[in-house]
Amino acid sequence: MVGGPGAGKGTQANRLADRLGLPHVSSGDLFRRHLRDDTPLGRRSRRYIDRGALVPDELTISMVEQRLAEPDAEAGAILDGFPRTRPQAEALDALLARHGGQLAAAFYLDVDRDVLLRRLSGRWLCRASEDHVYHDLSHPPKDAGRCDFDGAELYQREDDSPATVRARLEKQLPPMFEVVDYYADRGVLHAVDGDQPVAEVTDALLRTVVSPAK
Ligand code: AP5
Repeated sequence: MVGGPGAGKGTQANRLADRLGLPHVSSGDLFRRHLRDDTPLGRRSRRYIDRGALVPDELTISMVEQRLAEPDAEAGAILDGFPRTRPQAEALDALLARHGGQLAAAFYLDVDRDVLLRRLSGRWLCRASEDHVYHDLSHPPKDAGRCDFDGAELYQREDDSPATVRARLEKQLPPMFEVVDYYADRGVLHAVDGDQPVAEVTDALLRTVVSPAK
């Protein structure tokens, strides 16, 4: 799942994972777990994440490789936010080839920059599950500040502050477009208009899985 910060990668990856019976593997969620648990990787990555920069490729690639080696990912996974640079895309291809596999599809969620800004400033997340994501305007919880699923407290991410969001867009969109080009050149890219209601984006993604002709 390729897209700018706030394009809806997590929202859609979660829905596709449910529908397709595959694990949702989010590099951002993996990093946040390392930050929360104060692991050596968390301590090394914090300064990049806090500045809105990408974490260096070598750290990111080995973290995702470890996650994909877990048994639940044996039959595949929905990758969210990885790869995010061309070297990461090349490393993923090499990893899959070593295991006799290949990338089934690369989904690009196309969303304008001003929409990304609005989405990130209104986002709220559940303390109990990263998969429960809300938005002030497009998807508010029934009770303000509480998750609809488990009643846990909702919070805003530190890197969703306006200054860090601007830095994320500035630093992360150019390498993302290199990834889009990389997959377009290989004929596996499916671009979907990400500025539609959530369910319509999911339907568009599922249509490309069921009928992959572009
Ligand atoms: P990460 O957590 O991956 O952040 P991100 O890419 O900036 O993406 P987000 O999680 O912010 O947004 P999203 O696209 O998942 O959107 P969401 O579904 O939540 O990474 C965090 C940091 O870790 C990075 O900045 C970087 O430092 C580091 N990192 C991670 N991966 C890395 C990598 N591979 N290499 C190096 N560094 C890496 O939706 C956003 C909001 O919009 C929500 O409120 C949602 O409800 C709403 N929304 C979603 N879809 C719609 C819709 N269709 N209509 C209206 N509202 C919608």
